[in-house]
Amino acid sequence: MKRVLIRRPGSHRVLEVVSEPDPVPGPGQISIRVRAAGVNYADCVVRMGYYEAAKDLYPITPGFEFAGMVEACGPGVTEPGPGQEVFGITRFGAYASRIVVEPWQVWPCPEGWTFSECAGFPAVFLTAYYGLFKAGRVGKGEILLIHSAAGGVGTALLQLSRIAGCRACAVVGSGRKAGLCRDLGAEAVIDRSSQDLWAMAESLAPKGFDAIFDSGGPATLKAGYRRLAPGGRLVVFGFSEMFPRGRDPNLLGLAWEWLKLPRFSPLDLTSSNRGVVGFNVVRLFSQRDLARSAMGEMLGWIKEGRLRKVPVAEYPLESVVEAHQALESGTTVGKLVLTV
Ligand SMILES: NC(=O)c1ccc[n+]([C@@H]2O[C@H](COP(=O)([O-])OP(=O)(O)OC[C@H]3O[C@@H](n4cnc5c(N)ncnc54)[C@H](OP(=O)(O)O)[C@@H]3O)[C@@H](O)[C@H]2O)c1
Repeated sequence: MKRVLIRRPGSHRVLEVVSEPDPVPGPGQISIRVRAAGVNYADCVVRMGYYEAAKDLYPITPGFEFAGMVEACGPGVTEPGPGQEVFGITRFGAYASRIVVEPWQVWPCPEGWTFSECAGFPAVFLTAYYGLFKAGRVGKGEILLIHSAAGGVGTALLQLSRIAGCRACAVVGSGRKAGLCRDLGAEAVIDRSSQDLWAMAESLAPKGFDAIFDSGGPATLKAGYRRLAPGGRLVVFGFSEMFPRGRDPNLLGLAWEWLKLPRFSPLDLTSSNRGVVGFNVVRLFSQRDLARSAMGEMLGWIKEGRLRKVPVAEYPLESVVEAHQALESGTTVGKLVLTV
């Protein structure tokens, strides 16, 4: 098998493709012949060495999601059987041509979806599902502000907020990302490269937003908090703005960004009826019932035609450096996947 290996955190140069014997599934496990693996911004953070849950795991193979064919079942497993086409989630290790997982981590590929479309689905949709329905607790008719709305998680948030009956206002970093957001149901799109983000936001929601989904960090958290309606929730799930676009971060720069992170006062939270909530979906690995029920519900929405395929850009596994560079440029739309 081939897999991407990061021996030590660092720049793109630390992404190596290595060959080694295929893994054998143990009791209660299945092995998958991976055909595609999703690329997430979090993988870049793992490569840089700043992803908390990966800190003690180097050398590491990144990757939270994959799609492919079941190749073999270990003792005690009958379903899914060899030859079945599945997609799934893993706590690292998906940037590989083979992976061993447990059956609860996989689902059958939806009809008519390619392996790449399937591989780009679970991580961002589980994140968006958790963010909207568990952390953000959105309700019908609520007005939401969604940052980086044309990206992987952003496009999933847009689709799911439409299902939840919410009104979504999308924020994007370039005008060419606006069309996709409108297509996915955004009521309005703010291009923050050419428009005054907060003036536009105030005109769209004069009474404030019921929930704001922020994966950028220091640049928008404080201002977003001030634009929450009474009872509004600021949902924090990423810090991509803390990292320089397309360049290696340095500790001094990160420390400076860290200093810019807002501190929220419990007194103000109480007197203004506002909330700040953070989450990391990687914790769903210890809440497998929730992961299974969320995915079951979303697969139902796919069958009913209420959820669309995610637009994907494909890169061969050997071009993992180019895939990371593209994602870190901040210019991509939809999902990126590695194909095997
Ligand atoms: N907590 C969790 O459980 C969880 C799970 C998955 C992802 N996340 C977070 O959600 C965010 C989106 O992840 P994704 O994989 O779907 O990526 P993505 O949105 O497809 O790509 C990242 C987007 O972030 C924006 N961005 C802002 N600053 C950036 C920078 N310095 N470098 C690159 N991009 C920058 C860009 O969009 P605009 O310029 O249009 O804003 C870019 O397109 C990331 O912050 C990620 O860490 C969190």
